[in-house]
Amino acid sequence: MVQTAIERAGRKECDLPTLDLTPRQRMLNALRGQTVDRPPIWLMRQAGRCLPEYRALRERHSFRELIQNPELAAEVTLQPIRRFNFDAAILFSDILVVPEALGQGFRFRDRGGVEMSYRLAGVQEIKNLNDANVAERLQYVADAVRLIKSLLGSRTALLGFAGSPWTLANFMLEGGSARHHGEALTLFRSDRKAFDLLAGKLAHAVIDFLNLQIDAGVDAVQIFDSLGGLLPCDDFAKASGQWMAMVIASLRRNVPVIVYSKGTRDWKSLVASGAEVVGVDHEIDLAEAVKRIPADMAIQGNLNPELLRVGAPVEVKAEAARLLNLMRARPGYIFNLGHGVPPEAKLENLEALVNTVQTFV
Ligand code: CP3
Repeated sequence: MVQTAIERAGRKECDLPTLDLTPRQRMLNALRGQTVDRPPIWLMRQAGRCLPEYRALRERHSFRELIQNPELAAEVTLQPIRRFNFDAAILFSDILVVPEALGQGFRFRDRGGVEMSYRLAGVQEIKNLNDANVAERLQYVADAVRLIKSLLGSRTALLGFAGSPWTLANFMLEGGSARHHGEALTLFRSDRKAFDLLAGKLAHAVIDFLNLQIDAGVDAVQIFDSLGGLLPCDDFAKASGQWMAMVIASLRRNVPVIVYSKGTRDWKSLVASGAEVVGVDHEIDLAEAVKRIPADMAIQGNLNPELLRVGAPVEVKAEAARLLNLMRARPGYIFNLGHGVPPEAKLENLEALVNTVQTFV
C-alpha cells in the first residue's frame, strides 16, 4: 500500500492542514488568518528590477510592450517564481495604467521616475477624464491574468493590484513623479469638491480594474497606497482611507484584500477599510504594528528593503529570522518587505532571504 505523507510523518489527521501545503494554499490560508506550516513569502516589486532575466527581456522590449502583450507579461510575472518559488506571483503591470485608461498617459523619464502626458490642473480637466468603460481599455490585463493563471495552475497564488485613488491622484496632479508631492494635498485643502470629484472617478476606475482582474482569476488583490504617508494622520480618512474602503466594498467577489499604505499611522482607518490584511512598511517596528492590528486581520511585511542592497547575506538571514520569530505565535503572517525590492538588491541577499523563510520551522 502506498504510504501517505501523513503516515510517513507519523502525524494524526488533525495535523493535516500544515502538511503538504502548496504555495498557493499556504498563501490563501495565511491571507485568511489561518495557521500554516511557515509564513508564505512574496516581495513587492519581485518582478523586474534586479533580475538579470528581466533586464535581458527589457533590452528587447519597451515596458509598455511587456505589460500589454499577455505572453510577455506572463513571462515577467513567472520569472521570480521560477527563480525563488515564491508562494505568490504578482501580475506584471503598473498602477499607472488606470490614469492612462482615463486619458492621461505615462512614460518613464530617462533619468528615473515617471512623466504623465500632461499635468491634471483644474476642474474642467478632472471632468474630462473618461471614466466610462475603463475595463474595456484594460482588456489586455484580463488576457494576461488568464494566461498567467493557466501557467501557474493551482501551485502558486496570483495577486492582482491597483494604486489607491489618493496615490494615483498625486501622480496625476503632479504630472508625474515629484521630489515633493504637494498638489494633491493642496487640492484636498483648497477645493474639496474638485478633489472628491477626482477621487470618486479614480475609485470607480480602480473598482472596474480590480473587478476585471478578479473576474479573470486572481486569488487576492493588493491596493498600493504608496503615498499615504504624505497625509497628516487627521486627513488620512477623508483623503485616502474612505476611498479605499469604497473600493474594497465594491469588489465583486469575496477575494482577500491587502491594504498597503506606506508611512500611514492612522491604523483605525486601515483596520476599518474592509481589507483582510494590513501591509506594514519598514519605518515602524513590527512588534508595534502588531499591537495596533486586531488579531483577526493578517499582517504583511516589513523587512527593510535597503538591507537587500547594502547588507550581507548573513545580516539578511538574521533580520528575516528575527521577524519570523517575532511573528511565530501570530496566525496570518505573510512575509514581505516594507516596500519594493530596490533595483540594486543583491541576488545573494534575495536568495538568503527566501531560503531563511522557506526553511523556517
Ligand atoms: O511588484 C511587481 O513586481 C509587479 C509589477 C509592478 C510594477 N509597478 C512594475 C514596474 C507593481 C506592483 C508596480 C506598482 C507601482 N508603480 C507603484 C506602487 C508601488 C511602489 O513601489 O510604491 C508605483 C508608485 C508605480 C509607478 C511607477 N512605475 C513609477 C514611479 C515608476 C518609475 C520608477 C521605478 O519605480 O522604477 C514605475 C516603473 C516600473 N513599474 C518598473 C517596473 C518593473 C520599472 C520599469 C523599467 O523596467 O524601467
